[in-house]
Amino acid sequence: MKIIQLTDTHLMPSGIVVNGVDPERQLRAAVADIVEKHSDADLLVMTGDLCNHGDPEAYAILKDILAAVPFEIRLMLGNHDDRRNFVAAFPDQPRDDNGFIQSFIDTDAGRLMFLDSHEAGVIGGIYGDDRLEWLERTLATAGDLPVTVFIHHPPMDTRIAHFEHIGMHDDGAIMQRLHRHAPGVRHIVFGHIHIPLAGTTAEGIAYSAGQACSHRFITDVDSPTPLWTGGNPCYRIIDLDRTGLRAYGVEVGEAATGRAPVCEGP
Ligand SMILES: [Fe+2]
Ligand SMILES: [Fe+2]
Repeated sequence: MKIIQLTDTHLMPSGIVVNGVDPERQLRAAVADIVEKHSDADLLVMTGDLCNHGDPEAYAILKDILAAVPFEIRLMLGNHDDRRNFVAAFPDQPRDDNGFIQSFIDTDAGRLMFLDSHEAGVIGGIYGDDRLEWLERTLATAGDLPVTVFIHHPPMDTRIAHFEHIGMHDDGAIMQRLHRHAPGVRHIVFGHIHIPLAGTTAEGIAYSAGQACSHRFITDVDSPTPLWTGGNPCYRIIDLDRTGLRAYGVEVGEAATGRAPVCEGP
């Protein structure tokens, strides 16, 4: 299964720059590249902070850009989003019984789960009993399927100083439940931190984040106030099957400086 992950697109009404970057231009370039090179993908997942202030105009731009994508799309909320404006723009995106943007897809490679950690007015993630009940039920009905989890806020400590107080505010509840899923958790895929990260929990669950499509930080894990910067639009190709998961970072617009030699063996 080929999944494309876009994260932290932070769209604004046309022409408005965010931290020195034009988010609409970034996303249009990324999606054009995805459509050109990966029309065989099975799924596009956008792991939150779709829009910078959740404006209806920004969601309309997102809808316009995504019209070119020829495969299934799952959109997820981040702290910068606006739930009401999102639902108005994308009424067909699945929701759980409580109205949270949570859903799952069963595949040959197990169950994909999409969790909603958005809470209006909170920068960090919220995942209370009203959402944990869905998580509990969805893991229980997964039976012997391994799961792969998508969520905006990392549900573990990433040890990045800037995110120390704006990570997931759940006292570890999500991870505790995921660790109990006997068939295993293949991977936790998230956004929010705007820089690439890969790690493993003490219990052995692998996790990773992709580079933000829009602005990102100059990587400095110890600074509580790292510096914003721009760069090429980015997305990830996630290759998932029964043998596991591989994620490849893509930068749109890289210029070639040569060609790799053909490998002719030892
Ligand atoms: Fe973000
Ligand atoms: Fe975020």
